[in-house]
Amino acid sequence: MRQVMSIRQTLDDQIDDLKGSLWRDFVHTRSRTLRLVANLEMDDFVVQTATYMSPPKWHIGHVSWLYEVIMSRVNKEYQFYSKEFSEYLNSYYNQFGEPHQKGRRGTVSRPTLNQILDYYMEINGRVQTFLSEYDTSDKDVKSLFEMGLNHECQHQELLVYDLQHLLADVYVPLKKVSPPRRATATPSMIPVRGGMYRLGYGGDQFCYDIELPEHNTYMDNYSLGRFPVTNAEYMQFMKDGGYSKFENWLSDGWKVVQENGWTSPMYWEETDGQWCIVDFRGRRPINPTEPVVHVSFYEADAYARWAGKRLPTEAEWEKAACYDPTSDTKSIYPWGDEPPDYTKCNLLESNIWGCTEIGSYPEGVSPYGCEQMIGDVWEWTSSEFVGYRGFKSTFREYNDKWFTGQKVLRGGSYGTPSMSIRGSYRNFFRLDERWMFAGFRLASDI
Ligand SMILES: [Fe+2]
Repeated sequence: MRQVMSIRQTLDDQIDDLKGSLWRDFVHTRSRTLRLVANLEMDDFVVQTATYMSPPKWHIGHVSWLYEVIMSRVNKEYQFYSKEFSEYLNSYYNQFGEPHQKGRRGTVSRPTLNQILDYYMEINGRVQTFLSEYDTSDKDVKSLFEMGLNHECQHQELLVYDLQHLLADVYVPLKKVSPPRRATATPSMIPVRGGMYRLGYGGDQFCYDIELPEHNTYMDNYSLGRFPVTNAEYMQFMKDGGYSKFENWLSDGWKVVQENGWTSPMYWEETDGQWCIVDFRGRRPINPTEPVVHVSFYEADAYARWAGKRLPTEAEWEKAACYDPTSDTKSIYPWGDEPPDYTKCNLLESNIWGCTEIGSYPEGVSPYGCEQMIGDVWEWTSSEFVGYRGFKSTFREYNDKWFTGQKVLRGGSYGTPSMSIRGSYRNFFRLDERWMFAGFRLASDI
């Protein structure tokens, strides 16, 4: 859409003149949101195709609104832009009034897209003024704004999930590149010696409250998959009647399978015995060497049981990703502390718009030898999403009110912006959700 393109250009023109600062990171992040919607038609912005997804217009407004919330935290005199906008754009924060119902975000035409784009620009201006007037070296102000940026990154990824639901291959990204050439790779299990491990974030940059505090946790010896489970492996489960045998399933999972008639991962379709996936690369035959994606926790758990293994705990996952037994040190990413780049993993900025085959990123290997732990697919773990021992909420209702009925996923996906992922990142979803880019890898006791 021309209007989005021109706003984005205005932002990009500023980036070159900005030195490393919160404002520069803000401009970058805001521009990335607009990149995702730059090629949409006006009608695409307002449609809601499922109760669990949101119209693109809502995401653009909501991420802007959260900066208002942040500014109001620091400046008690802050005046919100509009009561009506706040009501529509509030996701689930009861402390800011009763939010508009999530499943009905696509049932209203006001505020219009043009009003939301004006609002988007207005908030940019307000944030710029705010950052020039307040001390951004103040730890609390800085971490609140960093949370705002990371929150926008989370919505960029949600927006990508929603764009697949809304448009799939009709969506035209600004940039799309071919997946890297693969090496031949064979799935295997990698042994990890147990013992005491410091679980959680140990660096000095931004992380969410749920990644803290870093604390001791004990685990016995275990082994973990070198790669996420592939489509070929998952199809064996399907061929063996995996979806029709109750003995593979948790009771709740079996109920969900029955009620929804699941016979495959989401977005899979079968024609004349040929399974295809419908994603940003079109309707294409299932690639046996890509990680399986769009599976719920229940499906991941059922597969693991069928395979005679189990899902890893989040501590087992993190240790195999970030701990180096040779040097007895822990890093932010599997490859060390350098930020992600396209040679090491498949994230949003890789612009591949789909999973890559296993073995595609030997440079992203962890000290234990596990690959593709960052990027491609979020990986379900068996861990309940709860606060770590000693948890302290830094922003009431953001994470802490979800400490029930959700499982932890680790590692990021091909829709995750690179600035927002790290080895200690804890994502969480309900056990039956599968429109996000979620897969899994196996673990076993040894
Ligand atoms: Fe949000």
